[in-house]
Amino acid sequence: MNAPVTISQDQAVDYAGLTVTPAGTVLGAEISGLDLREELKPEIVAAIRAALLRHKVVFFRDQDISHEDHVRFGRYFGDLEGHPVTAHVPGFPEILHIEAADGMKLREEIVPLVRAANKWHTDVTFREAPSMGGVLRARHLPPMGGDTLFADTAAIYRDLPQALKDRIANLTAEHDIIQSYGYRVDEAKRQELRAAYPVMVHPVVRIHPETGEKHLFVNKVFTTRILGLPEDEAKTLLHDLLDRVKTPEYQVRFRWTPNAIVFWDNRATQHYATLDYWPQERIVERVTIKGEKPF
Ligand code: SIN
Repeated sequence: MNAPVTISQDQAVDYAGLTVTPAGTVLGAEISGLDLREELKPEIVAAIRAALLRHKVVFFRDQDISHEDHVRFGRYFGDLEGHPVTAHVPGFPEILHIEAADGMKLREEIVPLVRAANKWHTDVTFREAPSMGGVLRARHLPPMGGDTLFADTAAIYRDLPQALKDRIANLTAEHDIIQSYGYRVDEAKRQELRAAYPVMVHPVVRIHPETGEKHLFVNKVFTTRILGLPEDEAKTLLHDLLDRVKTPEYQVRFRWTPNAIVFWDNRATQHYATLDYWPQERIVERVTIKGEKPF
């Protein structure tokens, strides 16, 4: 396992000519010195990947990219996947169109419901192979608010007491698409989702396939229960583990600006999009890079 890294706020590092400036003390860095409308050389792609592995989420500013540029950028890092519920941009099945609640259009009467359903999560852990990463661009921003928070799930794991680490070392948990999307769709669609996405079992602690770091791998949107323990004990344990992502010391907060782009390592983080801008609108678009089965 990699040793924990200490990042100094002002330490900008050169990666193949790119400037990578930490944006937080735990995770996050801003990358400057490139234009994502252009094709990227392999050494630049390798530098971005290295920065992503090091910082877990990277930010780019002032990138007025087209939909084609967005797809091309995502493909530098792997194959792309769509989403079984969230709408996509017309003509671009690989680009999700996200408004407020991942597919639901906001209206006054549902704002409290959507806020209550808004939770920290790792994307698509209902899949057998949850995604490697997400690349999100702002399409329409409110004048204020709508920040996205990211948390480092390796840092959360490192801080667990040793006895708890030992206790969860070989545990697995169920992840279920219905928990999060079930209420947004009709019965026919629910059954279709159930058939296509059976409840998935993943390790509670996953090892990052590229860095070897251990990460706490449960999230409030999709994880329904921990297996192999009495029900009450499993519930209390899951509640305890899920709560830890809320600690600000594990987080970085990204304030969007027009044409900003965020690229996160979905194997190493959870994220949370704040819904504090209603009645203003916020529209973002995401390409999702396929991942591997967690181990
Ligand atoms: C997402 O969960 O992919 C969207 C995050 C955001 O809207 O900031």
